[in-house]
Amino acid sequence: MNRRLGVLISGRGSNLQAIIDAIRSDRLDATIAVVISNRSDAAGLTRARDAGVETVVLNPREYAGRDAYDRAIVEVLRAREVGLVCLAGFMRLIGRPLLDAFPARILNIHPSLLPSFRGLDAQRQALAHGVRTTGATVHLVTADLDDGPIVLQAAVPVLDDDTVETLAARILVEEHRIYPEAIGIVLDGKWKIDGRRFITIG
Ligand code: GRF
Repeated sequence: MNRRLGVLISGRGSNLQAIIDAIRSDRLDATIAVVISNRSDAAGLTRARDAGVETVVLNPREYAGRDAYDRAIVEVLRAREVGLVCLAGFMRLIGRPLLDAFPARILNIHPSLLPSFRGLDAQRQALAHGVRTTGATVHLVTADLDDGPIVLQAAVPVLDDDTVETLAARILVEEHRIYPEAIGIVLDGKWKIDGRRFITIG
């Protein structure tokens, strides 16, 4: 599979950093072709620039609607010959134009053990529900929010004295470990989709 990544961010970019670090230390054989942000103030943009990675800011307000915005993203990705799109804290729903342009070629990281606690504030949801175990999930993106075949998951305990912040920090360590690993697995191409399941072969 084409090993050129397009990473989409909206904020801090610590998962982007984990991908950059994994590539630098030869744990991940890939190139980040471009980092796209919907916000010009995303801290992750600085991380990309520091790593010498091209950045593009696409402001949704400058587009007629969601489809037009998604088409603009596709244009940027195609122009850089991106093979795999990695959502890394990208706070927008992914629409048809992007899904159709990269079928089974978009990954997302979510801070819970899906299908528990989809959507925003997954760590807060886990605490509020009182689960003893939560974690992180890397999955292929489909039209449904935080759905799609699961590539990797990692579990972390919820401790009695956890706050949203301490729990989120514990989950983040696992996010940074499994996201580059999952990208490597997908890029290696030895997998198939069977219903909801992501199955590695060979
Ligand atoms: C992470 O918790 C990720 O799981 C979620 O958004 C957060 C992004 O953090 N989708 P960062 O921008 O990668 O630091």
